[in-house]
Amino acid sequence: MFVQLSAAVSLNGCLDDASDSRLAISSPEDMAAVYAMRARFDAILVGAETVRRDNPSLSISDRFPALAKERRGKGMPNDPAKVTVTRSGDLDPEAKFFTTGSGERYVLCPVEQAGTIKQKLGDRASVLPIPADAPLAASIVQTLSDQGIGGLFVEGGGEILSTFLSEGLGDKMRIAVAPVVTAGGARFDLAGATRRYKVEETERLGDTLVFYLDLKA
Ligand SMILES: NC(=O)c1ccc[n+]([C@@H]2O[C@H](COP(=O)([O-])OP(=O)(O)OC[C@H]3O[C@@H](n4cnc5c(N)ncnc54)[C@H](OP(=O)(O)O)[C@@H]3O)[C@@H](O)[C@H]2O)c1
Repeated sequence: MFVQLSAAVSLNGCLDDASDSRLAISSPEDMAAVYAMRARFDAILVGAETVRRDNPSLSISDRFPALAKERRGKGMPNDPAKVTVTRSGDLDPEAKFFTTGSGERYVLCPVEQAGTIKQKLGDRASVLPIPADAPLAASIVQTLSDQGIGGLFVEGGGEILSTFLSEGLGDKMRIAVAPVVTAGGARFDLAGATRRYKVEETERLGDTLVFYLDLKA
């Protein structure tokens, strides 16, 4: 599976601030480019805390129908599948993740919680068990590969990006840095040693500077 990581960060390295409202960190031009990149993938993953805090739709077709048309032209479904991962099962079946767009919906959770979460979500999502004691990113990749997913776009939040980076399970990363300084907020981090990554390209989109990293180089 090809794994693309993506994040928008403030100048102080945060993905969000500590307030309850959703913070748009990057420029509108950058957001449009993120949608275009999302549209190339089979599935988009966010952690359950992002579903709870941001209530994202993660759909393409509602905001960018031309991208959905391009996908259909390539024999892909209108929208990428949506994936989230949870231990607690604290997910609202009415969240946009479950109620908007046409993408398949997957909720990955430890085997022990799968029955309860299935009951709660009903037909809103396919609940797929993952081993509780195995490395998380590797389990996600294996489980989604078994569903036929070949390209995964990992959009956050901090804990999920940290997990993929720390397990060395990303191929590329797109990081948009915007001229914002937040009051508090989530971050991502590496377990183990600090690393310097290879920059393949940079681009300015509005007031936002984008780094394209090759995580395998
Ligand atoms: N700027 C950006 O590009 C961007 C993108 C996305 C999100 N964000 C921001 O990121 C913030 C959220 O990030 P976050 O780090 O707090 O959370 P997160 O990465 O979105 O989600 C973390 C959640 O993943 C689940 N999880 C973690 N390890 C697991 C495991 N081993 N097995 C099963 N489930 C597991 C847990 O869900 P349960 O608690 O349900 O068990 C955990 O709370 C939000 O503020 C959002 O706005 C920013």
